[in-house]
Amino acid sequence: MALQLGDLAPNFTAVTTEGTIDFYEWKGSSWAILFSHPRDFTPVCTTELGAVANLKPEFAKRNTKVIGLSVDPVDAHARWAEDIRDVTGATINFPMIADPDRKIASLYGMIHPNASDTTTVRSVFIIGPDNRIKLMLTYPASTGRNFQEILRVLDSLQLTAKHQVATPADWTAGQDVIIVPAVSDEEAQKRFPGYVAKKPYLRLTPQPEFDRS
Ligand code: BEZ
Repeated sequence: MALQLGDLAPNFTAVTTEGTIDFYEWKGSSWAILFSHPRDFTPVCTTELGAVANLKPEFAKRNTKVIGLSVDPVDAHARWAEDIRDVTGATINFPMIADPDRKIASLYGMIHPNASDTTTVRSVFIIGPDNRIKLMLTYPASTGRNFQEILRVLDSLQLTAKHQVATPADWTAGQDVIIVPAVSDEEAQKRFPGYVAKKPYLRLTPQPEFDRS
């Protein structure tokens, strides 16, 4: 059955540009982003991988490790990294999984045969410290992903994991958040004093512990 939110992310062993890894061992208790791209030496993917490398400090601030995947062999990943540096100025600073037999791509449902039966679509999995899947995204080959959006989701997920809050439409870090319905008004008054109730079910409060320097 296809993977769903809340499922345990399947563990695997993979050959990567940083050696052979056991996914769970590599990840440890961090958050992780596992993302696939269709092919090495393709234009949209080149821009995406450079963008991810440039965001390494942002992922580190969020205690998040990043790992890429395609069906290309590891020597192709290494050669392509030179092109990515030429084009984007970014040095690839995260492991890239070589999955030529599509073992991991199949495990994670990254091959969508009606789009392409030979290459992965643009999948993103955000996996929590508990190794459970917190987010899944699927983009077509023709659309490069917005990695600022992925950081934004990480911020939201990490807030929810720590405080009983959710985030509204188009929220970005530092804006007001929503107290989840499971918190009673009495409890909300203690934990989020001065919260504003727009409706009994829509209670807003400043983002807890906001300090993203
Ligand atoms: C790209 O990365 O540009 C790309 C890859 C596969 C199909 C179409 C575009």
